[in-house]
Amino acid sequence: MSDTEASTSESKPVVVYIVPTRIQKKRLKDIKSGARRKKLSVVESFGPRVTHIVSELDNRYKVARKLKIVDYSILKGMELLKLTWFTACIKKAEIIPVEDEHRIPEPPPEEESAAPLESLQQITTTEWACQRATPLRHFNEIFCNALEVLQMKAEFVDSGQDHLRSLAFRRASCVLKSLPFVITNVKQVKGQKDIGGHSRQVIKEILAEGFATEVEETLKDPWFQKVKLFSTIFGVGPATAKIWVEQGVNTVAEAQAKCERKNWMVQWGLAFHDDLIDQVQLIEAENLTAVIRAEAERILPGVIVTLTGGFRRGKSCGHDIDLLFSHPEEGKEVNFLPKLLTQLEQRSLVLCGKLEKSSYGDRVLSRDYNTKGHMDHYEKWLGLMKLPKRFCHEKINPSEYRFLMSNNAPVRGIETCTADDYEPHSKKQRLCEGEPSPITLATSPRTWTARRVDLVIAPYSMYYYALLGWTGSKQFNRDIRLYSQKTLNHKLTSHGLWNFELNKKLPASSEEEIFSHLNLPYQQPSDRNC
Ligand code: CTP
Ligand code: MN
Ligand code: MN
Repeated sequence: MSDTEASTSESKPVVVYIVPTRIQKKRLKDIKSGARRKKLSVVESFGPRVTHIVSELDNRYKVARKLKIVDYSILKGMELLKLTWFTACIKKAEIIPVEDEHRIPEPPPEEESAAPLESLQQITTTEWACQRATPLRHFNEIFCNALEVLQMKAEFVDSGQDHLRSLAFRRASCVLKSLPFVITNVKQVKGQKDIGGHSRQVIKEILAEGFATEVEETLKDPWFQKVKLFSTIFGVGPATAKIWVEQGVNTVAEAQAKCERKNWMVQWGLAFHDDLIDQVQLIEAENLTAVIRAEAERILPGVIVTLTGGFRRGKSCGHDIDLLFSHPEEGKEVNFLPKLLTQLEQRSLVLCGKLEKSSYGDRVLSRDYNTKGHMDHYEKWLGLMKLPKRFCHEKINPSEYRFLMSNNAPVRGIETCTADDYEPHSKKQRLCEGEPSPITLATSPRTWTARRVDLVIAPYSMYYYALLGWTGSKQFNRDIRLYSQKTLNHKLTSHGLWNFELNKKLPASSEEEIFSHLNLPYQQPSDRNC
């Protein structure tokens, strides 16, 4: 939860949703920007995080109808308030206590009976997921969690082949995530393009029984459990995980003992599995970002450092920390990353990692270039960093942190450091003789936790495309890229957008501009949780 959110006395953060009906566009925009200036939290789409619904409609029934709410229990714990309450909050720059006069009244009795709500709310959804908001928290988690188990199972079974089967479950789940109501009857999803027969069956069973047999059996299946466990190891994908299971490996300890010829990633991944299996918390990600930002700023003043990935989409935990760097003056970013890494090593933050040089050329945007796997061509580092355990508990002041680190050496030898200087040193780091092995390090007493970190550098002319790509989600990227190709004959990647009709690149100086190039309504990062 962001620290800018205001709180009520019960300390639940106040999240306001404004029903746009009967409010002029310009006025609505002004109210929202006014609220954000005063650090009051307003969301673009209605979802379970909302605590205060604000509207110009004159009774509660009309509001519920507008929000397509059939099941009134959804509104439990939410206030339905007049817009005047919120404008008063903005004026005072704080959430003012709710009085009875602020509440939107019940409808007159004759109105409710005159226009009863349809008992079954039908889905009206967009063709593409990127055309609608997909919030992190939504009303259909029970169905989505089940469908995503089947997505994972299909991905494991078909690994190495195409992913059409697994993606079908994901698309179905994405539709449900964007609905402003709970599915209560399987008829509601009938005829939905993205919800196929298999997914419908799962939904139907959950509605009838509270669970779906196939999902329960999958979760209990030892093969599934083991492939899932091994796939989470740094450097191990489903294909390797499957081979291990076929070879009779049952536990991470057995993999450790049995599997030979492991590459450096897998060696570290296995050794630090206990650290890496537990999710990175937002506070750790924010602390690391602050420390790295301070180091980066010293090396390259004016550098842009952005925490992307799941955290930018509003997640409170994740499997890694994704940081994107750029500089408003194009070209300044060249050779920055090796210098930064040298500096982070001196601060004892680096455990192991691999620096990849940029492999970008304009061919990457061309029509025929195969962008399978969604890998981009930026210079990047992926590896493990050592996060002091303190990072979990308190906000760190970066300047104090520099002082505290054992190795407080001045910046040395980094001015001329390039990727060529850095790479051999980093790749083999501590896998050489004489250095402690990963497992020795992992099992020694220590004051830090190993965390997966991705560092990516983008030239400024591509920065907003990189930001969009690295914010994700993966499924959102798949969807918006396919949409661009199928409906506009454009090619979208993390490097840019190519318009094949005009045969030229479309530059962008904000994410909003990318959405506008694509004729899409802007989706803020928290609504890209497909
Ligand atoms: N990504 C990418 N190129 C890569 C790796 C990742 O463009 N080589 C993108 C992914 O598509 C994703 C984003 O970067 O949208 C972040 O990737 P990842 O960390 O794997 O996923 P998160 O959404 O951050 O999930 P988590 O919170 O578990 O880390
Ligand atoms: Mn991530
Ligand atoms: Mn990542």
